[in-house]
Amino acid sequence: MTNVYAVILAAGQGTRMKSKLYKVLHPVCGKPMVEHVVDHIQTLDAERIVTIVGHGAEKVKDQLGEKSEYVLQAEQLGTAHAVQQVEPILGKLEGTTIVICGDTPLILPETMKALFEHHEANHAKATILTAIAEDPTGYGRILRSTENQVAQIVEQKDATTEQQQVTEINTGTYCFDNKALFATLKLVKNNNAQGEYYLPDVIEILQKQGEVVTAYVTENFAETLGVNDRFALSQAEATMRARINEQHMRNGVTIINPANTYISVDAQIGRDTVIQPGVIIEGASSIGEDCIIGPNSHIQNSRIGDRTTVHSSVVCDSVIGEDTAVGPFAHIRPNSDLGNHVKIGNFVEVKKTKIDDGSKVSHLTYLGDAEVGSKVNIGCGTITVNYDGKNKFKTVIEDNAFVGCNSNLVAPVTVGKGSYVAAGSTITKDIPADALAIARSRQENKENYVNKLDLK
Ligand code: UD1
Ligand code: CA
Repeated sequence: MTNVYAVILAAGQGTRMKSKLYKVLHPVCGKPMVEHVVDHIQTLDAERIVTIVGHGAEKVKDQLGEKSEYVLQAEQLGTAHAVQQVEPILGKLEGTTIVICGDTPLILPETMKALFEHHEANHAKATILTAIAEDPTGYGRILRSTENQVAQIVEQKDATTEQQQVTEINTGTYCFDNKALFATLKLVKNNNAQGEYYLPDVIEILQKQGEVVTAYVTENFAETLGVNDRFALSQAEATMRARINEQHMRNGVTIINPANTYISVDAQIGRDTVIQPGVIIEGASSIGEDCIIGPNSHIQNSRIGDRTTVHSSVVCDSVIGEDTAVGPFAHIRPNSDLGNHVKIGNFVEVKKTKIDDGSKVSHLTYLGDAEVGSKVNIGCGTITVNYDGKNKFKTVIEDNAFVGCNSNLVAPVTVGKGSYVAAGSTITKDIPADALAIARSRQENKENYVNKLDLK
C-alpha cells in the first residue's frame, strides 16, 4: 500500500473576490470552501493532511481546527512556493502526495480517488486532473505533444492566442510522487507574466527529465470549477445546491421547487417532509419526518421534530418538538425550546423561551425570557414586559394557566398554575395558583350620556 499525503493550498488573499473575507473562507452552501476540500480529502485515508495558510492564517486554522496540520507561507510567491513550505514535514517521506487548491470545493472524493488510481496504475511521477471546459478562460491550459502526451501547462496570462484556444484545463489537483515533487520544486523559476513560482511548471520539468507524467481527464467540468470571483462563487453554490437537493429528494424528501430551495450541506431532513418554495435551511439544522416547511421559511441551526409545520416563519438557534405548528409569520428567536403539540400562530415572537407540551400562543404576542408550562393558553396580544432598559427579567407561566387577551406581564412575575388573567390586565405581582387576576380599571357606563352630548 502506498502512503498517501494531502496538501491543500489556502494561503492566497483572493484579490479577485474583492472581499474583506479571505477567499477560501467564503461559504458555499453554508460551509467555507476550504472546509469542503478538507472534508472530501478526509475520506481518502491520507496519512497526513497539511493546509498551507498565509492570508487570514489564524482564521483558516480556527475554521478547520484539528482536521488538518498547517504550514505558514508568509509571503505568497506562487503555488510552487506554497507547496515548498511543506518540505520540512513531508520532504523525506516515500509515497504519493495529492495537491489540491482550497478554492475548488466541488471536486468529489470519487474523482480524487480516480485520479489517484490512474496515477498509481501508470506508475507516474505526476498526474494532473484535467477537464474540458466550454470556456477555459482563466485556467492553465494543458499542452500535449504530437503523441498526445502531456508536455506543459501554460497559464492564461502566459498563453499565446493559439494556446488560449486549448480547452483542456488544469483543475489545480494533482498526484505526485512525493520525493520527485520536492526535488523538482527546487528547479521551478518565476520568469513568467506574474513573476510567481508556478506549481504546474513541475510537470514540464519532470516531462523533460523523461519521467512519466499523465493526465486524468474528468468528464465533469462543473465539478472542477475554481472559485476566483463572486460570479464563480454563485456557480459553485448553484452546483452544490443542486447536489444537496437531489440527495434529499433521493432520500425521500419532497422539494416542490429545487431551483429556489436553499439547504445547507450540514442539514438533515427526514422522509416524507415537504419543503415548499423559497425555503432556506441553514447550519446544522435537523428536520424530522412528515414535516411541512412552508413557503419562504428561514430555519437556522435549529432542530424540528416529526410532523411539525413551520409556515412562512423564521426559526433561529432553537428547538421545536413534534406535532407542533408555527406560523404563518412567526419569529422564533435564539434559545427557544417549544415542546410537542404546541401552537404558535401569526405575528408571534418568541425569544429565549421554553414552552411545554400542548400550549397555545395563537396570535400577536411577544414572549421573551419566559418559561411557559403545559396546556397554557396565551391570548391574543399578550406581552411579557421583560426589559427595563437595562436588565432582562423572567416571566413564569405555570401549567394550565389562561392569559386573557391584551395582557402585559411585567417581569419578574409568575402566573400560577391554573390561574386566569383577565383580558387587558397589566400584571405586576405574582398570581397564586387557581386565582383570577384582574388588573385594569373598572368599566363605568354612563346611562343616556350620548344623547346629552348633542352629537346626533
Ligand atoms: C491555478 C493554477 C491553474 C489552474 C487553476 C485551477 C497555478 C500557477 N495555476 O490558477 O493552472 O488552472 O488554479 O483552479 O498554480 N495559493 C497559495 N499560495 C500562493 C498562491 C496561491 O496558497 O502563493 C493558493 C490560493 O489560495 C488558491 C490556490 O493556491 O487556493 C490557487 O491559487 P489561485 O491564485 O487561485 O490560482 P489560479 O489563478 O486559479
Ligand atoms: Ca483559483
